[in-house]
Amino acid sequence: MSVFQGEVTSLPPDKSISHRAALIGALAEGTTEIANFSGGFDNQSTLSVLRDAGISVRQEELAAGDGRIVRRVVIESNGLWSFREPSVPLMCNNSGSTMRMMAGILAAQPFRSELVGDASLMKRPMKRVADPLRMMGADISLSSAGTAPVVINGTKELKTIEYLLPVPSAQVKSLVALAALHADGQSKIIEPIRSRDHTELMLGLETIDRPDGVREIIIDGRKPIAAKPFKVPADPSAACFMIALGLLGERSEVVLRDVCLNPTRVAYIDVLQEAGAGLGIENVRSEGGEPVGDIVVRSCSSLAPLRISDHGVVAGVIDELPMLAVLSAFATGEFELHNAAELRTKESDRIEAVVSNLERLGFECEQYPDGFVVKGRPTINREEAVIECFDDHRIAMSFAIAAEAAGASLRLSDREVAGVSFPNFFSLIDSLRQ
Ligand code: S3P
Repeated sequence: MSVFQGEVTSLPPDKSISHRAALIGALAEGTTEIANFSGGFDNQSTLSVLRDAGISVRQEELAAGDGRIVRRVVIESNGLWSFREPSVPLMCNNSGSTMRMMAGILAAQPFRSELVGDASLMKRPMKRVADPLRMMGADISLSSAGTAPVVINGTKELKTIEYLLPVPSAQVKSLVALAALHADGQSKIIEPIRSRDHTELMLGLETIDRPDGVREIIIDGRKPIAAKPFKVPADPSAACFMIALGLLGERSEVVLRDVCLNPTRVAYIDVLQEAGAGLGIENVRSEGGEPVGDIVVRSCSSLAPLRISDHGVVAGVIDELPMLAVLSAFATGEFELHNAAELRTKESDRIEAVVSNLERLGFECEQYPDGFVVKGRPTINREEAVIECFDDHRIAMSFAIAAEAAGASLRLSDREVAGVSFPNFFSLIDSLRQ
């Protein structure tokens, strides 16, 4: 394994916060300036969908002093009902967040719209989107399989809702909140298992943490939203790949600057620290309501095998599970996951994708409906394997790190898909390699 060293100031801006900043900007009255917007394909899909739905969106690329390109997005809107009937189906490409959160907004607009995506997104579950919006009075139709196209006949007369989230999904929570902003009165979302809370923070929504651990989110509808500037911190889910690289690398030390440390996003750091990983957090401060800081990673030769089954932990590390599984498999030969059926509904079936690729690399695995176990690696299969990326950025990046750990020239079926969330992924690895 190579040595990786250096300071990283070019992690991609957070994907979840970039989406929300653009969507909230489109609902706010006035001019919203977003500093450090993500150039990832998913976030660019949100901008193009907003434009196709009548919102004024400008994007500038600026040269940062250190040679990086940073994006500044400016959105002009007159508030909650500034959208116009689109003349084309709204193409969300690979982005589930774009499709689902836009559905919440479009349900409240008095016209017909249609949301479509690439082959991966057209297979993902959308009944979880249609159910609450139908309860609020919107007319939504899906394919017979409960997938996109999502055809919305929106209404200005959406009803308020009290909604118990049936799955721990920040996208579903957010789309209900965005729809409820348009309803005439107060809505409540009940969240038994915590998911990322950027929407609540960025909209300044009232939240109540009940003694039983359940969170309630209160949304007062039809209140004007004043435009305000956003600055997007670096993406902790992208940081996870560089952390795995630093932990697996020999004599490595990598410092990741200005990373979003929102507790609903960095549960994976706790999981890794409990397993003995050499990780430090420094320079923590608050920026725009989000904790932000630096992460210091050092090579770790004594990681304990990761075993994850608690529902709350699974929800907290949902996007990092492919990388955690690959990291644990390479570092220890073992990994165990339960209560994670949601992983099958992501950009790919991530249980099948991780297991099938680990098996190609010689690991012995067993799959369950809601998880899998890696039991060891009886045979080393270094050179021949071609990794199947399944149109999934996190699978491509997890196994690109595996290729580094294996010291092998593994081939990825589609390495460009990393650009969905991390356009400079491969060049950043090369820049850290000593
Ligand atoms: C996201 C929520 C998660 C996550 C996705 C981004 C968000 O999806 O997997 O990458 O920004 O709200 P679910 O809400 O489906 O769990």
